[in-house]
Amino acid sequence: MRVQVAIVGGGPAGHLLGQLLYKAGIDAVIIERQTGDYVLGRIRAGVLEQVCIDLMDEAGVGKRMHAEGLVHGGFDMLFKGERHRIDMNRLTGGKNLMVYGQTEVTRDLMDARKAAGLTTIYEASNVTVHDFDTAKPRVRYEKDGQTHEIECDFIAGCDGFHGVCRASAPRSAIREYEKIYPFGWLGILSNTPPVHEELIYANSPRGFALCSQRSPTRSRYYLQVPLTDKVEDWSDEAFWQELRLRLDPEARAKLVTGPSIEKSIAPLRSFVTEPMRFGRMFLAGDAAHIVPPTGAKGLNLAATDVKYLSSALIEFYQDKTEAGIDNYSERCLRRIWRAERFSWWFTGLMHRFPENGEIGQKFQEAELDYLIHSEAGARSVAENYVGLPLNFGE
Ligand code: APR
Ligand code: PHB
Repeated sequence: MRVQVAIVGGGPAGHLLGQLLYKAGIDAVIIERQTGDYVLGRIRAGVLEQVCIDLMDEAGVGKRMHAEGLVHGGFDMLFKGERHRIDMNRLTGGKNLMVYGQTEVTRDLMDARKAAGLTTIYEASNVTVHDFDTAKPRVRYEKDGQTHEIECDFIAGCDGFHGVCRASAPRSAIREYEKIYPFGWLGILSNTPPVHEELIYANSPRGFALCSQRSPTRSRYYLQVPLTDKVEDWSDEAFWQELRLRLDPEARAKLVTGPSIEKSIAPLRSFVTEPMRFGRMFLAGDAAHIVPPTGAKGLNLAATDVKYLSSALIEFYQDKTEAGIDNYSERCLRRIWRAERFSWWFTGLMHRFPENGEIGQKFQEAELDYLIHSEAGARSVAENYVGLPLNFGE
């Protein structure tokens, strides 16, 4: 098989790229290790910035998102037993976020791909990437006991944190930055109405908690837990009990509980790879960077990498210029580091770090107190949380 772009990985990044390239008349194939159902079964955050909403529209898949997505103009921060609203909309001159699950984003992209008759190779095993330091890269994979090869002009590494593309870049050409946090997030999904119409980020003496949602009838909640905890140790009842203890009295009284339909523990990590281009192979999304989930920036960053990459490839084919390709890594990394900085900072603000001692706790409380009582402080939180514009600083 020969295509212009071989996309390794069929998560949201790979699928969004596939759709944007298709719209521009560029021929691409997606090679995915898992089945489509497996990909859709992964529960991830679902808070879309305006740039991500615009990209879904540009890709021609925004219809259901606009019909079912929930527009949020603010969120609550809870500390010392009291909730304080960050009025994002007012503080940012009218910007909002959209709550729409990553599963739904991926499903809409998959459906559009299928409707357009585009090729996705699912259950491809032993995927390997070759010759991306030449003008004729190749991707090899196995399926149904046979080895296949795809010739292409470019490889897009959209294969997530554990993918093969980053791992295939020459070690001498790559620099990785990493921070692992000393706790995880235990998450529960349940068919219960959300405790509040907006999200609540809670810093309680028992640890962080987050009240999120997927729809008016489906909730997503998280608890900060020690890395040593196992998901089997947490019955639904124990989860709800602990969540209640981390909320304010009003939310505690309003909380509707029910059986979990998904329960998992995720570690928290900050991670960035530099650069994101190796000859004719590009990394995008989780393949190149991970943020801790506080602030839900992961999907939004993946989407903006894809925006820059699709623009660069479209320029290459239509305008015969390599300027976009040459700028890709630098352009992405500027945006990524800003979001990495915010996600790290917001994680530090809202979680408990006993290792920082009593003085660390006092500093945290003073910072929270400052942020919500200062217009400048609150605006800085809101501006980053809502997402900085694509052309920020340009
Ligand atoms: N070959 C083919 N596909 C692979 C390989 C491989 N060797 N390794 C991984 N994959 C696939 C995975 O099965 C997965 O479907 O690549 C896809 C990567 O998808 P994601 O991990 O969802 O990453 P990405 O598309 O970049 O989306 C970023 O994920 O972690 C969240 O918060 C993050 O929302 C953000 C989103
Ligand atoms: C989620 O809904 O899963 C979610 C929302 C906001 C976050 C993280 C996760 O900051």
